[in-house]
Amino acid sequence: MNVLLIGSGGREHALALALSQSPLLTTLFAAPGNPGIAELAICVALDPSDHDAVIAFCEQELIELVVVGPEAPLVAGLVDDLEAAGIAAFGPTAKAALLEGSKGFTKDLCARYGIPTAAYARFSELQPALDYVRAQGAPIVVKADGLAAGKGVTVAMTLDEAIAAVEGCFSGQFGAAGAEVVIEAYLDGEEASFFALSDGVNVLALTSAQDHKRVYDGDQGPNTGGMGAYSPAPVMTPEMTDRVMNEIIRPTVAGMARDGIPFKGVLFAGLMITAKGPELIEYNARFGDPETQVLMLRLQSDILRLFLASRNGTLDHESVVWSDDAALTVVMAANGYPGDHQRGTELRGLEQAADCDGVTLFHAGTRRDGARLLANGGRVLNVAATGATVTEAQARAYAGVAQIDWPQGFCRTDIGWRAVERERH
Ligand code: AMP
Ligand code: GLY
Repeated sequence: MNVLLIGSGGREHALALALSQSPLLTTLFAAPGNPGIAELAICVALDPSDHDAVIAFCEQELIELVVVGPEAPLVAGLVDDLEAAGIAAFGPTAKAALLEGSKGFTKDLCARYGIPTAAYARFSELQPALDYVRAQGAPIVVKADGLAAGKGVTVAMTLDEAIAAVEGCFSGQFGAAGAEVVIEAYLDGEEASFFALSDGVNVLALTSAQDHKRVYDGDQGPNTGGMGAYSPAPVMTPEMTDRVMNEIIRPTVAGMARDGIPFKGVLFAGLMITAKGPELIEYNARFGDPETQVLMLRLQSDILRLFLASRNGTLDHESVVWSDDAALTVVMAANGYPGDHQRGTELRGLEQAADCDGVTLFHAGTRRDGARLLANGGRVLNVAATGATVTEAQARAYAGVAQIDWPQGFCRTDIGWRAVERERH
């Protein structure tokens, strides 16, 4: 079958790699794709926000499934419009994507169905929000309600920080996303990400990963989209996975169905494993970037078959197999990221890096200029590797990084440190 993949990041390169291995695939198209994806798919210059153009392309190329990578087209209703035009699409409707698009929506769902999450209150006006923060005290967490590119959350360790964050949201720092604010209790524990597929009714557990959100070594500096990841996350033991499925994921899918907004697609749960057990920090309604890069390196099942089952409501007939190996990815970013950074600098040494033991490269923000490969974004390249342990995957990935010649780029040098420390004991 012909498949159209929407997106252009490292996540989509990893999805393209997995899709290209499916025996069900005839031709893979990607819009807009990137130079790495172009080795696996036909890249087309379609604007995913132009739904009519996407529909016309699907009709012309006889696309039988559209796979949507990023959140923006989901929240904008691309899946709704494709399905209304008779084109099958993998991913949630705009309403169901509110699990990611509105933190307040998700918190209310948790409250209705007894899903463990931090105690919270929602505010649409400054003064009551400030009164609440003062009454609760620090540490406390302040969140813009809507999509704020991962920047709308302040974990305030002091009352002054919390007050500044509330004032920032209501003064328009995050635009419309901050018109409503969620204030919640601070949770202490170890974070992990967990992924599951849903077809609206049935749920299939995927696996876990650990992201590294801060830009510098030692988890210092501002938050980013993610500077590296590994899978599986050691804190997600089989027992913890069962608890997450039973206490968080299954009640969410059942609750959404009961509320008349069945969720189809990937549920990406950000979790805090506290002394009491797992608590939900947030949901994303899509795969993570860079988590998908490590997930796809461990996946041994046919991803296209699983996506079709999610879309068609037949996930109860499916199972999924993961390699016992660990996978780890290091994100290489342009100097200055997540702040201002330069585009158009040249990267060299990719072939040497790809030749290293166990290494796979995933392009993110790159562009070709003749024979040259240029940086074209903040997060530019993923150097990923598998290994028997996270320690081995880490050593292999950094051996690959050492081959990349890109003076205008940087990466963290400690991706996987928590798991490596655990493996040492
Ligand atoms: P989010 O964008 O909701 O994933 O939040 C970004 C980061 O803020 C998370 O990855 C956590 O590290 C942190 N965070 C969010 N909510 C809480 C909470 N209630 N308690 C402690 N840390 C939190
Ligand atoms: N890496 C975090 C995310 O994709 O949201």
